[in-house]
Order: sequence, then C-alpha cells, then structure tokens
Amino acid sequence: MIGSSDIMSRISDEKILEIRNSVNIVDIVSEYLPLVQKGKNYFGVCPFHDDHNPSMSVTQDKQMFKCFVCGVGGNVFTFLMEYEHISFLEAVKKIADKVNIQLDIGPITKKSVSHLSKYYEMYDLSMKYYQNNLKTASGKDALKYLQDRGINEEIIKEFGIGISYKGDKLYKMLKASKHDDKGIEESGLCNYNDKGYYDVFSNRIMFPLFDIDGKVVAFSGRIYNTTDSSKYVNSKESPIFKKGQMIYNYHRVREFVRKSGQVIVVEGFMDVIALYKVGINNVVATMGTAITSEQARLIKRLSTDVILMFDGDNAGNKATVSCAEELQKVGITPKIIRLEDKLDPDDYINKYGIERLKEHIENPISLIDYKMIIYKENKNLQNSVDVSNYINEVIKELKFVNDKIVRDLVLQKLSNETGVSLNTISSIIKKEETNKIIKPELIKPSKKMNRYEKAYKGLLFYMLRYKEVIRIVDDSNVFIPNREHRLLACEITSFYEKYENINIADFTAFLGDKKELVEIVNQIFDLPLPEEYINEEIDDYIKVLNEYTVNLEQKRLEELMKESKSDIDKADIAKKIIELKKEWI
Ligand code: CTP
Ligand code: MN
Repeated sequence: MIGSSDIMSRISDEKILEIRNSVNIVDIVSEYLPLVQKGKNYFGVCPFHDDHNPSMSVTQDKQMFKCFVCGVGGNVFTFLMEYEHISFLEAVKKIADKVNIQLDIGPITKKSVSHLSKYYEMYDLSMKYYQNNLKTASGKDALKYLQDRGINEEIIKEFGIGISYKGDKLYKMLKASKHDDKGIEESGLCNYNDKGYYDVFSNRIMFPLFDIDGKVVAFSGRIYNTTDSSKYVNSKESPIFKKGQMIYNYHRVREFVRKSGQVIVVEGFMDVIALYKVGINNVVATMGTAITSEQARLIKRLSTDVILMFDGDNAGNKATVSCAEELQKVGITPKIIRLEDKLDPDDYINKYGIERLKEHIENPISLIDYKMIIYKENKNLQNSVDVSNYINEVIKELKFVNDKIVRDLVLQKLSNETGVSLNTISSIIKKEETNKIIKPELIKPSKKMNRYEKAYKGLLFYMLRYKEVIRIVDDSNVFIPNREHRLLACEITSFYEKYENINIADFTAFLGDKKELVEIVNQIFDLPLPEEYINEEIDDYIKVLNEYTVNLEQKRLEELMKESKSDIDKADIAKKIIELKKEWI
C-alpha cells in the first residue's frame, strides 16, 4: 500500500497512478513558475532555494522535476508537497480535483491523522465563536468601530472578523468539544492562573490569521474601546503557528496575483483589508517590521514582480529597506511606493482617495531611486563629507543593478545632484570593484563512495530502469548493507510485483509520503552511470555485496570461535566459515 497512514490506504495504488498519469508535470509546474523549453526539457528558477538562474529542470518523458543546485526533485506530487507544504494525500487530492477524478476516501478524512489536527480544530472553533459574538447585542460597540472604519458585513465575513470577551467562555466551549487542558493551553487560546483557566484574548476585535492553505492558525486582537497600551495582541507561537512564516492574506491572494502578475506587500493587515474594500486584491501584509528569509521566499512564490507599499513614516522606511534586502537575497528586486504625509495605505485612501493611491500603484519607483531618496534625507549636500557618504552609499547599491542604462542614469543623477564629476564617481566604482575579493565558487567535493556503496547504488540505479535487473537482484537474495537503500530495493520489488514494470514517476508516486526514500531515488536516478547495463556488471555488484555479507558473517563466526571453549565447537565453526566462503564467493 502507498503511504503509511490510514487514509492513504483507502486510496488504491492504481488510483494514485491514474491520477498521476492524468496530468503532465510540465503543465502543473508552469502554474507555479514560468518554464522555458530548451530541447526536450523545460527549465525554471527553482522555488526551493535562493535561486537566480533557471536551475530546475522538468522532464516531460520521465514526468519528473529536479533542481541541479539544491537537489530537490521528484514527481508531480513531490512538487506540490514541497511547494505548498502539504502532505502526500493532499497533493494527490489536489491533482484529482483538478482533473475531476473522484476520490472516495469517505468520512475518514475528517478524523485526520495529523497530530496537529486538534489545534486546527480549536482555532476553527474559536474563529466561529468570536464571529458569533459579534452578532450578539454586546458586540454592538465593536461592530460600530468596524463600520466607522468602513468595514461592512461582507468584509467582516470574508476576513472572519469577530470579537473576544473577558472570561472563560471560549475555554468552556473548547472543553465541551472534548479538547483537553493541555492541548487548549498549548494552542495559546487559553491560559491559567490560580483562579483557573481563562481566555487569553479579552475584549478585542479578533482578526484570524490564516496559513498558506487558508486554515486559521492564530489571531491578532485589536483594541477598540479602551486605551490599552498594546494596540494589537497576537497569538503566541504554537505547533501550528510560526511568526516567521506568516504572511497575511497569502491564501486568498494567489488567484488575484495570477491575474495581475504582481503582488503588493504592505505592513498591516488593516491595510490589506482597506485595499480589498476598494477592489485592490493582490495584497499581502508582513505584519510588522522585518521579514524572515522564509517570508521572502513565500513572497517570491507568489510573484517576482513585487511592490512594497509600507507606511510612509520613518519606521516604514526602515522596514522597506530591510524587507527589500531580504527579497534581494532571494533574487527579487522590489519596486517601491512612498506615501506622502507619513501615512499608511489605509489612512492614505481615507485622506486622498483611492484614485490617487492607484496612481502610486501604477507608478512605483525603482529600489535604487528609492534608496537615493532615503540616503539623501538627513544629509546636507552642501557639506562635503555628507556628499562623499552619499555617493559611497549609492555606489554600494549599484552592485544589485544589472541594467546598464539604469546604472548610467544613476551615475548621471549622482553627478548632477552633487556636482562631483562623472569621472571621479566612475573611478570610485572601479576601485570598489578591484578591491572586491573574488570568492572561489564553492564546489562540493563529491564524497568518494566505497566499493560496497558503489555496488548497491549501481544495482538500484539499474533496478529503477530495468525490470530485468529487478528480477536478477531479487533472485540473488543479495543483502544491501544500508537500511534506507535496502528499504528502497524492497519497495522497487513490490512495485514490480504489482505492475510487472518499472517507471520512475509512477514509482515515486508509489512511495507516497516516504520522503527519505523519494530523496534517495532522486540521488540514485541521477548517478553518472551509463544508461545501458551489461550483465557482468550487475553480477559484479552482487558479488561485491555478497563479499561484504560474508565478511561480516565471517567476523561474527571468528568471534564466536574465540569465545568457545571446546575444540570440537571450534572446528565446527571453522568448517562453517569455509562453507560460507565457498557458497558465496
Ligand atoms: N503590530 C503588532 N503589534 C502592535 C502593532 C502592530 O503586531 N502593537 C503589527 C500588526 O500585525 C499590524 C502591523 O504590525 O497589522 C502594522 O502595525 P500598524 O501600522 O501600527 O497598524 P495598522 O495596520 O495601521 O492598524 P490600525 O490602522 O488598526 O491602527
Ligand atoms: Mn492604519
């Protein structure tokens, strides 16, 4: 059976292969990233590491993908699992839905096998509870606050907004739904003190935070009728919520980004909502200041055309610079929007109206132009030291600018602004460049394989290609002295027994969520060995491995011989050793 879980065993292997065969991996991958055809294969920028060149190939014949830099690879299911952070089953379901293949896995899916499901359940229940509160009489104030901010019923529903009250009502509700104290506390929704359990969020407007699949994993609670010192309180990290991975609105934005080709990044989720209200839907929020590399990669997955529209204040400028840096590390140079009057997008719309904001969105400035503005601020270009600092700061930025015209324009601008001649500026750049130490490319020395390793990897390499080799290996009873590789050989054999054939994409699908094995398959499949095999070579591999087994067994017997007291026993063991060698090598 494919996979290890209960659910998985409900879907037959045949069904999974049917689903895999119903799509072309090239079509699926192109939904996520642009692919360019070169010869027989397709290439794209790898979304699984900080890639700048198209390092990922997608092969139509084999129906496999592979990044030759970071090594990630597999079939269409593996791609979805990696890309969307989903389980094997979810990936299978996704493709099945796409091609309208009915997956009859019945009610068991509800009982999800994941140990995280209880947290998802609790958060989902809480969202409904908070939402419901807003409809009651005591939710009136909060509702008014939202309405005053232009957030109507429809938006409230769309974004799952609700309200929390002081007390332990949520706790009691979670208990009534059969959740235990330990789980409830770990979820971060409730806590306890000497008086007992209480709800963490109290008297705040509740904004659910969704993960990339659209499941509620946390909340942000805003004050509305008090002057509490913290405007927002967010859920603490939990088994399902990691701050550094949260991008607000990610799950909702995909289709809109696909349409417009562009993603706008703002600081606050209130800005996302404010923009959504006026029909600008391709917006996500970082929810704070600095972003992590993981968040940068998530943004890159949405689009490489990124606009940062942070608050127009000083903090917003800082956040813009640091966010842009993080994005550049993953190969994206964002465009920037600077809002006047230190406003955030929400306040900007309120003050100047949507049309004026749209003008900004249609005319973002380049990052280098933005940096020039920022660097110039707080400097007096009449002061020579300031001028020198300014020029040097801008020159440092130029290394990210590949477009020669843009570079020239920047230099021209620098010279005009400061009165320093183009010649002088160019000479500073030249000096910078010669000072740069050229780092030698890190080349990973390929680990030398010992002969046993070579032998079993060689066998697996051909087993993955030729059913004849599977048969030979099977008949030989050879022992592979490495657990994972041994398991892999078993899987290949059982695949063959079932389908009387072998095919790499189907076989990888057959492995399901056994990720370690899929990884090994990828390594083995790409070993630099000739495509065709000769029988002698296979025999040799088997011989080498038998030798290994015999050596092991011989050692064991020799130990035994040493320990044994009786001469008869010793002679017996010696005979066994001779027979062993005779039989196997
Ligand atoms: N934030 C937070 N804790 C705070 C303040 C802010 O977690 N005490 C996060 C929130 O995710 C918020 C984002 O930082 O969405 C931006 O903060 P801010 O600009 O202060 O909030 P606004 O989006 O302007 O919210 P509002 O308009 O409701 O004041
Ligand atoms: Mn605001």
